[in-house]
Amino acid sequence: MNVIDTPSLDLERAEAFADRVGGMFDAGAAATMISIGHRLGLFDGMAGAAPATSTEIAASTGLAERYVREWLAAMTTAGILRYEPETRRFHLPPEHAACLTREAALGNLAVYAQHVSLLGRMEERTLHCLKTGEGTGYGDYPCFHQIMAEDSGQTVTAGLFEHILPLVAGLEARLEAGIDVLDAGCGRGLALMAMARRYPKSRFTGYDLCADAIAHAAETARAQGLSNITFETRDLTGYCEPGRWDFVTSFDAVHDQKDPEGLISGLCRSLRPGGSYLMQDIGGSAHLENNLDFPFATLLYAVSLVHCTPVSIGQGGAGLGTMWGWETAEAMLRGAGFKTVERHVLAHDPMNVWFVSRV
Ligand SMILES: C[S@@+](CC[C@H](N)C(=O)[O-])C[C@H]1O[C@@H](n2cnc3c(N)ncnc32)[C@H](O)[C@@H]1O
Repeated sequence: MNVIDTPSLDLERAEAFADRVGGMFDAGAAATMISIGHRLGLFDGMAGAAPATSTEIAASTGLAERYVREWLAAMTTAGILRYEPETRRFHLPPEHAACLTREAALGNLAVYAQHVSLLGRMEERTLHCLKTGEGTGYGDYPCFHQIMAEDSGQTVTAGLFEHILPLVAGLEARLEAGIDVLDAGCGRGLALMAMARRYPKSRFTGYDLCADAIAHAAETARAQGLSNITFETRDLTGYCEPGRWDFVTSFDAVHDQKDPEGLISGLCRSLRPGGSYLMQDIGGSAHLENNLDFPFATLLYAVSLVHCTPVSIGQGGAGLGTMWGWETAEAMLRGAGFKTVERHVLAHDPMNVWFVSRV
């Protein structure tokens, strides 16, 4: 039977739903185009500039005009650029530049568009994972550590001293006096380097599984002349260095580990008396029904399918996924033996949850 003949079908609702699905294709395409505009510096070049033709924009960015013209058309139909048909000039209004450039007043949303475009680049590999149950390795994801560094550069590093470290009462004075700090799963280590610059008497160490991210971090620290920071390639599975650290951080680096519970408990045992662990992770709930209105929930579940779940499975882990939930994280922290566990959500970053745990 043709579905249109289904007696119970509400055709009006079905058509409205079809329109919504169609809109998703346009939005997905726009996100990929935003990612391209960000990576090529097109938004940065157009911000604050007078309206310009595709030829002028191509010349000022050193890109091929024929392709630039097509990108400009996509961004115009998406409502991001304004187009003057008489002069064939394109313009990025300042109100739009405010969330799409590297100097963006509201934070650069174009950074996050790169996650959407990475989903597309990983489609074949994801099909393979779904069919075989196999996992992935970090090396399978083009530009992953660069995208992550840009992402956490905004959500973590930018708010570190104003919003994030003050969550740990008394920490600033200890950092100023000189303590030992570990960032577990540090990636390219931008947050750790910001702390090392600010607190020259403290000693900072970053561990990460990925040698390429660690090499990049070490090179950046060297170029900045930081002598109180060390980066080391290290698999944190089964990690424990008893009583080694005064303060431990992890920024979005626990749920995709092979053994998140084991890591949390190893980090707890690696703290000295009086030490604390600051853990940032995704703030969604462990229960799907609670996430229906969670910010960017679809994107987060998609990133979970394509990245966070398979990289854990690829390490032989459980694959808890991006939306393992604050409830799961909190239960693991309490079970690890911390004396106190506090949970915080920061106004500037509703997508993440912050735990401060003390031994
Ligand atoms: C989502 S990224 C976050 C990176 C960084 N903290 C940031 O905020 O930019 C997660 C990091 O955890 C690291 N990681 C995953 N499994 C690991 C393991 N078993 N041992 C050490 N690091 C691991 C990855 O290499 C990756 O850099």
